[in-house]
Amino acid sequence: MERTSVVAGPTQMPALLGGTPALAEPARVGRPNTVGRARFLERLNGALDRGVLSNGGPLVREFEQRVAELAGVRYAVATCNATAALQLAVRATGLTGEVIVPAFTFPATAHAVAWTGLTPVFCDVDPHTGTLDLGHAESLIGPRTSAILGVHTFGRPHGLDALQQLADGYGLRLLFDAAHALGCTWGGRAVGGFGDAEVFSFHATKFVHSFEGGALVTDDPQLARRAAAMANFGYDEDGRPEHLGINAKMSEASAAMGLTSLDHLEEFRAHNRTLHERYSAGLAGLPGVTVLPFNEQERNNYQYAVLHVDADGLGLTRDELDLALRADNVVTRRYFHPGLHQAAPYRGGPRLPHTESLADRCLVLPTGTATSAHDAERIAFAVHRVAAHAAAVAGALGAVPAAA
Ligand SMILES: Cc1ncc(COP(=O)(O)O)c(C=O)c1O
Repeated sequence: MERTSVVAGPTQMPALLGGTPALAEPARVGRPNTVGRARFLERLNGALDRGVLSNGGPLVREFEQRVAELAGVRYAVATCNATAALQLAVRATGLTGEVIVPAFTFPATAHAVAWTGLTPVFCDVDPHTGTLDLGHAESLIGPRTSAILGVHTFGRPHGLDALQQLADGYGLRLLFDAAHALGCTWGGRAVGGFGDAEVFSFHATKFVHSFEGGALVTDDPQLARRAAAMANFGYDEDGRPEHLGINAKMSEASAAMGLTSLDHLEEFRAHNRTLHERYSAGLAGLPGVTVLPFNEQERNNYQYAVLHVDADGLGLTRDELDLALRADNVVTRRYFHPGLHQAAPYRGGPRLPHTESLADRCLVLPTGTATSAHDAERIAFAVHRVAAHAAAVAGALGAVPAAA
């Protein structure tokens, strides 16, 4: 790999300071993983020929079967997105009052609780894994608490047995937002089978996608039946509106993409793993920058390449690194910023130091099939180059408005 030099010149200077951009074309977080277009169109044409485009057509049924198999559970209810599936999980489990959620997560986790009229209670996270801090979660349990909703943050599930014990000990339901963790395991068990139910996202930015889509997975037949009915206006299997419901159905077009994306799952996993290796090797030893590791004893999808940036070690804040890399055509994301306890709909609660620290330090790098192994090497090179000129970069950025 090309190494940083302090000698000024177009290849040695960060693009922000006039050097040649590390990448000729932008690499972005969240570009969709590419699928075999012919197979997708074949499936889509089948749906058009059948004239069955929604309402639980054969593609959605097949998608549900394959997702359930992958998750090691008996039931999957495919939905139009994960946010709706989270709302269904809350309603179908009959939650009331307060639900404990991590503050370090995507807004949908807490919104799904609040949107259904319940109160999300924000819990701090473990400073290393970004998942629920068990001790803090226990301290938040009160008479109105009905559930804990955990998140497998960045596809790195953690401490699931202890969390189940905690929920059992207080008679609480346990749900998981598994939007990041399709194809992952914890303790050798597939994500999908933990707690009462888990929810996957098949948004275009996710490991496996269906344009937009989600699924609630569970081993509980009653819960699965209720969630399926609630996703379809509350109609039960006999066509009677037995529940209050919404329209959260997945379309056949989405299932066509979802199935085709699933066909490529192992390819995506291998590709992301290569990117993770390139990032880890390329950035090893750089002061102030740590590539968040995966537990190699588990199955991982490697979809989220996460940097922890220590401003003292690097000489630049995470936000300054983010801005400097944009000049190099590297479009990162500051997941998750800010912590939800400080986001407009929820602010005013107590400070959560680990969440706030992670929200200031995490930077997600591009992965997926749109990013090549060579791109990952160039991105690591770009980080080195910015680091080698940290003081000048910080000075130049003084005149640049903060990242959106
Ligand atoms: C942790 C988490 N939960 C939920 C969601 C929402 O997923 P969807 O866009 O499918 O509603 C996302 C989306 O990025 C997410 O990252």
